[in-house]
Amino acid sequence: MVSRFFMKAYYVLSIPISILFILNSKHIHKKYKFTLLKKLGLGFRMFLNTVRIRTGTSYKSHMVMALKILETPPDVCGDIIECGTWKGGCAANLSLVCNIVGRKLLIFDSFEGLPEGAIGDREAQNYKKGDYCGALEEVKRNIFRYGEIESCEFVKGWFEETLPYLHSPVLLAFLDVDLEASLDTCVRYIWPNLVDKGYIFIDEAVGTDYCALFYSEKYWKIRFNQTPPGIIGAGTGLALGEYYIGPWSERNTHPTWHHNAGAFTRKDMSGYWSYYPDEDTA
Ligand SMILES: C[S@@+](CC[C@H](N)C(=O)[O-])C[C@H]1O[C@@H](n2cnc3c(N)ncnc32)[C@H](O)[C@@H]1O
Repeated sequence: MVSRFFMKAYYVLSIPISILFILNSKHIHKKYKFTLLKKLGLGFRMFLNTVRIRTGTSYKSHMVMALKILETPPDVCGDIIECGTWKGGCAANLSLVCNIVGRKLLIFDSFEGLPEGAIGDREAQNYKKGDYCGALEEVKRNIFRYGEIESCEFVKGWFEETLPYLHSPVLLAFLDVDLEASLDTCVRYIWPNLVDKGYIFIDEAVGTDYCALFYSEKYWKIRFNQTPPGIIGAGTGLALGEYYIGPWSERNTHPTWHHNAGAFTRKDMSGYWSYYPDEDTA
């Protein structure tokens, strides 16, 4: 009880510090004239949106994505994508930054919640069909009220049916899709469209099995004939000032631990082991 109070107090009091900590970058492109005041304005609006709209992710991870978008020079092409939007809370925030930089936000979702779990999908046991349902009209209404709807395009349907038609360059994709099967579909169709230094963010950073996709030599060999890219934040999430020591299975024993920070990989990253001194490499 007490620790929950302190956790909430810490969360609220640390908002301005978090905003300045996360958006404090010399690499934000000067074309965007992103002053201190604009940083605070965007950060507070992002925080408020996660209070106004039921949202499964933290405004801090939304700000990290905003930062990567703002740091990318305007002449680098590529849309922003969210796969898995629920009520549109994160999408509303991404639409704010898309509006600043003049990029399109493509929002992919069934708008009927999660699909039936596939056989072999270990995450499927934690959910049922229809979980996290946000109807298209509800999502549009939320973004209209709190985001920038002009920057958004909505693509309704199951990922396996909609993503194969994605052929435009992608600068950053946020995959908040819960299921392993959905993650596989998203990576399979989005990775080839990612620009050279394009990003994939995920929400399930503390799921080490889930994150393992980004380190699996077998997966990357089969899907893309390359070595894996790795992922920053695997196991604990990005270091955004929240206390999460892990592992996930022990979360109930530490009420102050909060993991809501996401993880990301970039098209040019590398995450594979190559030192095998006992193997005959001749
Ligand atoms: C956890 S919610 C997303 C939360 C949201 N990003 C946020 O920050 O509040 C997961 C979403 O993924 C969508 N989803 C998962 N798998 C899908 C699939 N195969 N096809 C379409 N939508 C899918 C669900 O409909 C749901 O909206």
